[in-house]
Order: sequence, then C-alpha cells, then structure tokens
Amino acid sequence: MSTTETAPPETVNEHGYRSFRIGGFSFARDEHFVHIDWPTGSHVMSAETFLKAVMRDVSWNFFYGIVNFDAVIGTMNHYGNVDLFAGRYNSAYRRAELDHQENFPADDLMGVFQAILADWTNAGYDPFAAPQETGSPFGPKRGDNLGAITRTRVTASRMVGVPGDEKIRSDDNGFPVNRMFADVAQTEPEVHAEPGYESEVAAFNLFGYLSRSDVTWNPSVVSVCKDSLYCPTTEEFILPIIHGNDRVEWFVQLSDQITWKVEDRETGSVRATVVMKAGDVAAMPADIRHQGYSSKRSMLLVWENASPALPDLIASGQAPTVPVSF
Ligand code: PHB
Ligand code: FE
Repeated sequence: MSTTETAPPETVNEHGYRSFRIGGFSFARDEHFVHIDWPTGSHVMSAETFLKAVMRDVSWNFFYGIVNFDAVIGTMNHYGNVDLFAGRYNSAYRRAELDHQENFPADDLMGVFQAILADWTNAGYDPFAAPQETGSPFGPKRGDNLGAITRTRVTASRMVGVPGDEKIRSDDNGFPVNRMFADVAQTEPEVHAEPGYESEVAAFNLFGYLSRSDVTWNPSVVSVCKDSLYCPTTEEFILPIIHGNDRVEWFVQLSDQITWKVEDRETGSVRATVVMKAGDVAAMPADIRHQGYSSKRSMLLVWENASPALPDLIASGQAPTVPVSF
C-alpha cells in the first residue's frame, strides 16, 4: 500500500470539501477550520491561516529549513525528502511526548498539498493577496481559484530585465502599480552598452518592479550570482508562516516598516522583537524562527545564500549560526 492516499473526488463532506491523508496524517476542512489528525493527537487551525501557509510551502518547494504553519504543524525540508510534523518544534508538545513527524518523498507531500490547495481554495479567494485585496476563504465550498494558486514564482536565471530572462513588470503585461505604492517613481534606467555587450549589461528599477507586485510575502529571485540570491518581496499584514532558518538570512528593509518576532527554532521560546525601518539591515541567525508583521505594504530585500552545503555545515558546528560575532 502506498503511503499517499487521497479520498476519491466524489467523497466530499457536508461542506463540499474533500479530505486528504498522507501516512498517519489526515486533513479535513469545514466552513471555518482545518482539522489535522495524527496517531498521537489532533489540531485545529483557521482555514485562512492554513491556506496561506500551504500556499507558501507549495510555491517555495518547501523553502529553506522549516516552514511552521503555526506553533504546532509544519514541514522541515531535507531537499528531496520532507518531514511533516506536529508539535516537533514546540517544547510543551515535546515534554508531553505528543509530538509526531513522518518523512515523505518531497513529490508525494507536494502532490497532497497541491490537491488540498486546489480543493479548499474558494472562488474569489487568493492566499497570496493582502487581506483588503481579496475575498473570503470561509464558508462552504464555492468554486475554485486555480489561476491564483498555480502562479509561477519569479526566479531569474541571471537578472530581471536581461534579454531572455524574467520580464520587467508593466501595465501592459498585467502588473499595475499597487494602491500602496502610487508614489513610487516608474522611470527605468538608461543602458548604453558597448557594441557586442547588449545582452550582458542590464539594469532595472527595483522599486518600480516591486511597486507592481500583485502578491504579498512571496520573495522573487530577481538576481543570481553563483549561490547569492536577491529575493525582494512586498509585505502587508502577517507573514503566513513562521520560518525556521537553516542558514543565515540577511534582511534589508527597502521601505516602510516590519516588526519581526524572533523565537528559538527548536523550542519556540521568545528571543527578540526586531523593528526594522526603511534602510535598516539585519542578519537573521541560522538557529531562529521568525514571523514578520507589516502594517502598511512595505518592500523587503531577503538575501539568501543558496549553497546546498550550508545546512550540514551549520548543524555540525563547522559554520557559525551568525555571520559576525562581536
Ligand atoms: C523569511 O522567512 O525569511 C521570509 C519569507 C517570506 C518573506 C519574507 C521573509 O516574504
Ligand atoms: Fe526566514
């Protein structure tokens, strides 16, 4: 028997939703909540919180390290296989021995999460959108929103705007300036390349590009230099996951303000509150988890080191959890 089973589509509950199972975990939703069961316990989450978190986990291919949907449920990426856990990074669950985790091939868990998202996201609700820019996730099943949940993430090979790479955003290709960024200049830099270098020299207006983002809390890879990835994003309301780092991440606050709640990655105990104002730079350590709050839509540059060697180097103590010690 396969570890992956999904209920046949005709098996829907009284609210119109399918239920799903992978290994010992099962997932069901009603008009307001998602109910998750595993052999040693169960959990309930707001359908809104759950859908926004699963949307990021799917779109980011399980991301770097840990994606906590909340203080109980989440995934830990081992790059090829993934742990699905309940209470594993929660000291109270650990002490009570109620925590549980199972490891799955990444493709199997991805298939189940994609099927959940497709079935549980109602027409008019976009899990990537700011709260004031989308409809309600709640209620009985009402159509779907496959276009919104299957957006491809922007991942430049070299840089946005380079010939053949990710395109600059404009009104014409469906990216109008967001209501919160009406004051952002839209001029593009002039590039005068020497003959023969036209495909090697490029520049674009990053603030203009971000002002036209239609999603929140969704870093785009806009430039790549070996393992160095610039992943800027626009933020409004709350980061829908609590991210447990497996490497250092640098944050550059490009506009407005974000408050970060920073906790211990293993236990969830509070470590710091970091208020970042425009121009502030912070390095988030490799042994923390964090969740950001942005009152007004803001622009954040997340700078990632994508080296696949890092998680093991850090876990084995060969590389530090912070980029600098004072
Ligand atoms: C992060 O976990 O570092 C992160 C994720 C998504 C964002 C911003 C930061 O939009
Ligand atoms: Fe992070």
